[in-house]
Amino acid sequence: MSRFTRRSFLKLSGGGLAIGASAVTPGQVLAKPGGEDIGRATLPYPGRVITQAASLPVNRPLSFNYPDESSPCALIRMGRATPGGVGPEHDIVAYSTLCTHMGCPVLYDPDTRDFKCPCHFSVFDSEKTGQMVTGQATENLPSIILSYDSQDDSISAIGVDGLIYGRQSNIL
Ligand code: FES
Repeated sequence: MSRFTRRSFLKLSGGGLAIGASAVTPGQVLAKPGGEDIGRATLPYPGRVITQAASLPVNRPLSFNYPDESSPCALIRMGRATPGGVGPEHDIVAYSTLCTHMGCPVLYDPDTRDFKCPCHFSVFDSEKTGQMVTGQATENLPSIILSYDSQDDSISAIGVDGLIYGRQSNIL
């Protein structure tokens, strides 16, 4: 017949707590036995080829949608190296074209190289990762994360840095 002493009880329960505490650590992603993440807070972004770098005119925006069809964006080849820029000259950037104030479509101004909102006149700098320059908006324009494949000269969208207006998550 076994007998639990106070010492053996504490030893067992302490060991149990130690196992419990080490089972889940902060920031750890939980996985189902099949390997699927169940603790992930956001869904993965799709990768989408937009165009070939050589086909882009300098300082003229190309419209596209990302990460889904209801999210308008603009891709611009600035013609000079730009922070966050990709491509052979590191000059290709892209942004959501929904103003972060109240969601009006912003328009690219090739003279000043910024995006202007016609609703309440916020201005966002396309050469400074979408930084809010002036106006009612308090957030920068979300920038589209791009990748460049030198094998086929393709520019792809692979993510979004910043929250697209009107969304709780960029991936719906
Ligand atoms: S919606 Fe753009 S400044 Fe208000």
